[in-house]
Amino acid sequence: MNIRLAPSILAANFAALGDEIAAAERGGADFIHVDVMDGHFVPNITIGPPVVRSLKKVTHVPLDVHLMITEPDRYIEAFATAGADLISVHVEVTPHLNRTISHIHSFGLKAGVVLNPATPVGTLEEIATDADYVLVMSVNPGFGGQTFIPRSESKVRAVRALLDRAGSQAAIEIDGGIDRDTISRVVAAGAEILVAGSAIFHSPDPEAAARELKALARRSVPAAWADRT
Ligand code: DX5
Ligand code: ZN
Repeated sequence: MNIRLAPSILAANFAALGDEIAAAERGGADFIHVDVMDGHFVPNITIGPPVVRSLKKVTHVPLDVHLMITEPDRYIEAFATAGADLISVHVEVTPHLNRTISHIHSFGLKAGVVLNPATPVGTLEEIATDADYVLVMSVNPGFGGQTFIPRSESKVRAVRALLDRAGSQAAIEIDGGIDRDTISRVVAAGAEILVAGSAIFHSPDPEAAARELKALARRSVPAAWADRT
């Protein structure tokens, strides 16, 4: 398993994003997770391509852009040219998922598909070998600081089993309520890319918080999966 930590800037101080990202990077961030919300798919509004373009200039790790928007196809090019390195779209609002994944790939980016907590794992059946990663939401998207939904742990196991059956190498990312209490459980279940917002940026020392979470995650990799790539 290849553990990667993806701090979500949703919980950061937006007036000092450069400093916040630098602290997360010093703490071992592998990606910076950018939550894009449109006030339609989710009941909140955040940021768009101009902010991604600015972040790109100050970030040394790939930008992991999570689109919580209806009609994501309309905005993929804008986020790709702004500097996104990974783009994920929700299956709930993407009727032509293969086409959308190809569209993301056409810009040379990694493509992820996201499942809301109520969305069945079986939705992945036909695109398991197309996506580069699957993002399992462990809260209902829209806000940071929510409580981890315990059922997400068995959902990660079910997603891993489905991907393995399909012969897919896609990594599992998990997002929502990931902190020092939940991170070990989700890694043990098969999650490799760990998004954490408030656990890092609401801490008095985001650098130390990121370092601690990543160390905990690495220690939680099951022995049987240690060599798995
Ligand atoms: C929720 C977002 C998450 C959020 C996670 O809709 O997709 O990325 O920022 O925040 P925490 O880690 O605070 O749950
Ligand atoms: Zn997110």
